[in-house]
Amino acid sequence: MSELTFDRHRRLRQSSSIRRMIRETTLSHDDFIYPIFVKESGSEVTEVASMPGVFQWPLHEVLSEVKEVVELGIPSIILFGLPAEKDAEGSQAFHDHGIVQEATRVIKEAYPELTVIADTCLCQFTDHGHCGVIKDGEIDNDPSLSILAQTAVSQAKAGADIIAPSNMMDGFVNAIRHGLDEAGFTHVPIMAYSVKYASAFYGPFRDAAHGAPSFGDRKTYQMDPANREEAIREAQSDLEEGADFLIVKPALSYLDIIREVKDYSGVPLVAYNVSGEYAMVKAAALNGWINEREVVLEKLLSMKRAGADLILTYHAKDAVKWMNESNR
Ligand code: PBG
Repeated sequence: MSELTFDRHRRLRQSSSIRRMIRETTLSHDDFIYPIFVKESGSEVTEVASMPGVFQWPLHEVLSEVKEVVELGIPSIILFGLPAEKDAEGSQAFHDHGIVQEATRVIKEAYPELTVIADTCLCQFTDHGHCGVIKDGEIDNDPSLSILAQTAVSQAKAGADIIAPSNMMDGFVNAIRHGLDEAGFTHVPIMAYSVKYASAFYGPFRDAAHGAPSFGDRKTYQMDPANREEAIREAQSDLEEGADFLIVKPALSYLDIIREVKDYSGVPLVAYNVSGEYAMVKAAALNGWINEREVVLEKLLSMKRAGADLILTYHAKDAVKWMNESNR
């Protein structure tokens, strides 16, 4: 009898078909949420300098982008709005004819089956660029809540299928859930950016959405990247307040948090693969330093392996195209 002195892991790696048989994680077009930036002023489609392949779309052009997403079989998009005018309380965020509301109507009319998610925040709409209203130089939590609830209701009225509040005010899920319920939108789910870190990886997004704060930073409302236990406390309160999905953001540097929040929460978890994560890969790929296709598919797979059910990513269209090619 031969003596077994080590395990032969390579037995299960010896052919492509065996590797496929034991593969634990896979990517599907159903996993993706594709972000789209819609702008109110200007009639041209503009590429975001720090995010090659990502564009700001005027209303009359946006359907060409949406059509491509639908044809690839991606089930949902999230809308970010660039208003023509900003003010102290971000009133274009909750205006019934604001850019997000108008884009939602146009898109839902053309593609009723597509799930349209509305990002609910004030930073793109306020002249100071913060996610809440300001009082004495501070971001004032409670008065911001009613404005956010009003924004969510106007988005739901326009036809948004899911409300995704990203502002990180305390009590935002509670305020928005009550607002939606009172307005008759009990069926509209909340996808809460519950675990959102004050991250340097949002840099390119602030170019794309013109939402950089004009003073200070977001550290009094977004989380400290050093904290793990706090992520559970944030997830816990949002679940108690009625969140239907939880978002962890960013994704790549926070895979440990994705796993932890998923194990804790038991609700669908979304990983937000943010702008800076996209830009790094694009920059390296454009220099020929990495294989873009392999790197993108590997990082998206890692997010699913970490526990994400869904991935919000600027790579979604490319990823689906590459996945379709390799399935052929
Ligand atoms: C707005 C918002 C931000 C992002 C999504 N919603 C920016 C921020 O909080 O500063 C970042 C997304 C990305 O970087 O891709 N609150």
